Amino acid sequence: MITTFAKINCENPQENIDDINNAASIIKKGGLVAFPTETVYGLGADALNPIAVKKIYEAKGRPSDNPLIVHICNINQLHQIAKDISLVGKKLAEAFWPGALTLIFRKNNCIPNETSGGLDTVAVRFPSNKTALLLLEQAKTPIAAPSANTSGKPSPTKAEHVKSDLDGKIDMIIDGGSCEFGLESTIVDVSGDKACILRPGSITEQMIKEVIGEVGIDQSILKADTDNSPPKAPGMKYKHYSPSANVTIVCGETLSVSKKINELLNQCNKITGVMATEETKHLYDSEKNLVLVVGERKNPKSIASNLFDVLRKFDYYNVEEVFAEGFSENDVYFAIMNRLKKAAGFNVIRV
Ligand code: TXA
Ligand code: MG
Repeated sequence: MITTFAKINCENPQENIDDINNAASIIKKGGLVAFPTETVYGLGADALNPIAVKKIYEAKGRPSDNPLIVHICNINQLHQIAKDISLVGKKLAEAFWPGALTLIFRKNNCIPNETSGGLDTVAVRFPSNKTALLLLEQAKTPIAAPSANTSGKPSPTKAEHVKSDLDGKIDMIIDGGSCEFGLESTIVDVSGDKACILRPGSITEQMIKEVIGEVGIDQSILKADTDNSPPKAPGMKYKHYSPSANVTIVCGETLSVSKKINELLNQCNKITGVMATEETKHLYDSEKNLVLVVGERKNPKSIASNLFDVLRKFDYYNVEEVFAEGFSENDVYFAIMNRLKKAAGFNVIRV
């Protein structure tokens, strides 16, 4: 298959309406289009077309019991695909949509099992990215879209990441530049009696509590070994976000962390890399190791938006052992550490 590319002006995608219409007609005909969102790039197909949705699983190499998020561009589409909308669900949608929040509702029959991974619920997100919205409006159908990476790899935050994973496997890639947040959406299950966070993201527990008072956190997010209690978001049980390199996170007070990482680097005779920050990069020898800066500690959003790009860069430079500085787990750092720990296979050293 030949994958076509279209560069879009993400500030004003109307300028590229011909390309967007082309993408929308691929979706309507049952094809696959990768497109930018404010979180990560999505791999889109018509959510109501089971044959189209199956192609997503094939292109990504994704297990078929791992359900997809359905993207919408108006509230009518929510009522088309979901039922029994709870009051907390309504409040969260009003507070955070359009935006980086995915809500789980009971599904309507129009959502095929292929989209919901056989569950009787459906994950719904109303994104805020202008290109994503224009594509949804022109396609006139809800679009199922997981992150547009090969299953297990870090999610794509740039069109070039999608290209390196899926070129030749999908119909089209829309290049709308770098994604604003860089981590996947927060997922909240509002299908039961009590709202529960299934995946942390840029919309934090605190922000959710301010709207609905109380919210649970799925236990599997808090611990490494999920064998005993399977996560409620089926995708969270799979190995994720991993570069080919072995990743070790070192957590603790900044100077002790850099001292420990330098010790580990000295003991290691493989191709080594360090994931450092703007504040700490000078503490490592960048002639002997690939030292990559993930962002500024005082600006967690910069870290969120670069994390997956940096993890992919270690692979690009064939690094075999990565030592990553850890972070506290407050606010957005909770989501950052959730993804980083998965990338490291929960290999964490505390100093
Ligand atoms: O930011 C995002 O959410 C991106 C962009 C493209 O929107 N999408 C994304 O999709 O991250 P994906 O497929 O990589 O992750 C979706 C997660 C998986 O862990 C999946 O198991 C969970 O959502 N999920 C989907 N439907 C679900 C459901 N009905 N119940 C519980 N978990 C669900
Ligand atoms: Mg994903």
